[in-house]
Amino acid sequence: MHLTDEEKSILDGAQGEPKRMALQILSKLGEANDADRMIPIASSHLVGCSYQIAGEAGIEIYSRLVEQGARVAVHTTLDPGSIDFLRWQEFKTPADYAARQKLIAELLEKMGVAPIWTCTPYYLANIPHFGEDLGWSESNAVAFVNSVIGARTNRMSAYVDLCTALLGKTPRFGLHVPENRRGNILFELEEDLAGNFRDFYFPVLGYMVGQIVEDKIPVITGLKHATFDQLKAFGAAAASSGAVALYHMVGITPEARSLDEAFQGSRPSRTIRIGLKQIQEIISKIGDYDGGRIDVVGLGCPHASLDQLRRYVQMLAGRKVHPQVELFVCLNEVVEGIARKMGYIKDLEEAGVRIMAGTCLNNCPLGAWGFKRLATDSGKFAYYTPTTVGTKCSFVPTETCIEAAVSGCIVEG
Ligand code: F3S
Repeated sequence: MHLTDEEKSILDGAQGEPKRMALQILSKLGEANDADRMIPIASSHLVGCSYQIAGEAGIEIYSRLVEQGARVAVHTTLDPGSIDFLRWQEFKTPADYAARQKLIAELLEKMGVAPIWTCTPYYLANIPHFGEDLGWSESNAVAFVNSVIGARTNRMSAYVDLCTALLGKTPRFGLHVPENRRGNILFELEEDLAGNFRDFYFPVLGYMVGQIVEDKIPVITGLKHATFDQLKAFGAAAASSGAVALYHMVGITPEARSLDEAFQGSRPSRTIRIGLKQIQEIISKIGDYDGGRIDVVGLGCPHASLDQLRRYVQMLAGRKVHPQVELFVCLNEVVEGIARKMGYIKDLEEAGVRIMAGTCLNNCPLGAWGFKRLATDSGKFAYYTPTTVGTKCSFVPTETCIEAAVSGCIVEG
């Protein structure tokens, strides 16, 4: 891999130990992936910020970096942490656990990161442009910025993402190279599905596509329109059940204005047709709890938007959450602040909803609650939460989640 004279001097320690270490790690990553050079990035987004992921090892690494004077070189945001910084006591988080998460926050802030704790930084705090190179982790965010915005990032891992932030560069390989962004597998939606495509089918289709393609690039045809939140839900599910970092939806995402553009003039390696029957089959296979009583409902994965909060308020329609159910809505502090001004948070809190800001069901320790049965509308929660929270899980539409929260029971509509 070619290194510039300046990069060689960084490796010799000319700009301090944090940058030397960052470049050493990134150049090894680049060499292992046949990168030709390092390229500047516009921003980074880090996942090793939650105590659940970073643990004591992360605290040790971050402490050493702070002692060495480490500062991020580009705008850098953070994924959800392991606590709601304002309300951690309400979530039964042990005090010593909260203290360790706060220490991680202090250390990262000393390095100059923007202290917004969210898996949807692309809403408001870190919004890339088309074609920009980035050093991001967080699977849903990587899928979103690559696919919906047309920015370019590989799916980085914890600590490697921090290396990109410290250096302001990343090795050029994978999705930074335009030819590598061509679609591989074509999914054609049949008319019975495409003509009746419901909101809930986005995460379901994403889950199905992710399972099939793993880390290949899927191209979907047949949809005419998708909202920001629907694309978010699709990508989060595909990036959980598989390792999708980029998808194309013909006529919807920016690198797929036509089928030909999505495949860059080549032919798909496989074509798969999906109808309503296949969607219904996959719905019946996701999750391991078919109905009956539930004790927890998880919404806002990835972190909820203002529009989703408005929909939750409308669906609750002044009713209250069942006394034996907890309804958690996960979001970030900025969206919470605006939603509070708009009255949504007041309405949700009066209904008995628990607002969980800056963290989520998968990052926050919830063992003390003893939950057994979860309902969620998120493909990502459905994939991970049975393990992280230790519950059985029903994967159902948002409306069914809200009805279950009110009645205490799943009743499929
Ligand atoms: Fe975000 Fe947590 Fe879901 S990090 S994508 S709300 S699992």
